[in-house]
Amino acid sequence: MDFEDVYQNVERRDIESTTGAQTQGHGWDEEKDLKHRGSRYLVLISVGLGLICVLLLVFIILLNITITAERDMTKSYKNTVEELNQTINSLHDNNTDLKTEKHQLQNNFNSLNKKNLVLETRVNGLTAEKDQLQRDFDSLNKKGPVCFFLSTESKNWSDSRQYCRDRGADLVIINTEEKQRFISSLVSERVWIGLSDREKEGVMKWVDNSPLKRGFWFKGQPNDSGNQDCIELNYERGNTGWSPLKSWNDLSCSNKKKGICEK
Ligand SMILES: *[C@@H]1O[C@H](CO)[C@@H](O)[C@H](O)[C@H]1NC(C)=O
Ligand SMILES: *[C@@H]1O[C@H](CO)[C@@H](O)[C@H](O)[C@H]1NC(C)=O
Ligand SMILES: *[C@@H]1O[C@H](CO)[C@@H](O)[C@H](O)[C@H]1NC(C)=O
Ligand SMILES: *[C@@H]1O[C@H](CO)[C@@H](O)[C@H](O)[C@H]1NC(C)=O
Repeated sequence: MDFEDVYQNVERRDIESTTGAQTQGHGWDEEKDLKHRGSRYLVLISVGLGLICVLLLVFIILLNITITAERDMTKSYKNTVEELNQTINSLHDNNTDLKTEKHQLQNNFNSLNKKNLVLETRVNGLTAEKDQLQRDFDSLNKKGPVCFFLSTESKNWSDSRQYCRDRGADLVIINTEEKQRFISSLVSERVWIGLSDREKEGVMKWVDNSPLKRGFWFKGQPNDSGNQDCIELNYERGNTGWSPLKSWNDLSCSNKKKGICEK
């Protein structure tokens, strides 16, 4: 039976009962009244039960929705956690990579720094050398323009001197430290200079007959070993005993070398 039908029946009976109450006897009325009340309770109970059913249904649906939502949320939380974990792992890896890279860069930097220091030292040395040479050159130029040149052929000392004289010059005279440094910087082989003790053993003389005032001898020289009367500028940079101010050696005049000419 539908609730509506019941309700309609109840209504009809109510109408009947009110109309019937006027026509019918009193005892019968009471019985009918009771019956009516019973039906009403029944209806109310049914309606209540229905409502409870509906509420239960709604509750179940809501519960379901909540559970589903919670499950989704848990899932999304898990995903987020996983993503975060991956990010953390990746960051950790990147950090390790960066550390390694930093270490390598630091090493590179250190080695470059060392190289830079070495180069700086060399540059400083070369700059000092250049400045010295410039000073030497300037001081030489003060005494009037000079010209140095190297003979093109290797000859004995006399022939080398002749080579210079044929060109309006003579073998070089080195009477100052600046000039010694300058001439040393020009040569890259052993060369004759204008000094000898050919006239008198042990008395060194320049080609202009001036005496030697200061010599720039290689260690242990001159030693006149087996009659060595002519002087060479003994360029040997591989030799540890060599230096620009210690480079002269006496030699037999018949040795063949190029000469430094000065004009
Ligand atoms: C995070 O990742 C690491 C390495 O892949 C794994 O060992 C660990 O169990 C993970 N943690 C979580 C909470 O997923
Ligand atoms: C880690 O580095 C890689 C490339 O080296 C980059 O693609 C990635 O996004 C980095 N990860 C994080 C979490 O920054
Ligand atoms: C003398 O000097 C020459 C170089 O000119 C060298 O070869 C020789 O060994 C030296 N002799 C002595 C005895 O020191
Ligand atoms: C130098 O060589 C010439 C020949 O070119 C020779 O006449 C002269 O005697 C030599 N002098 C010495 C000291 O060897």
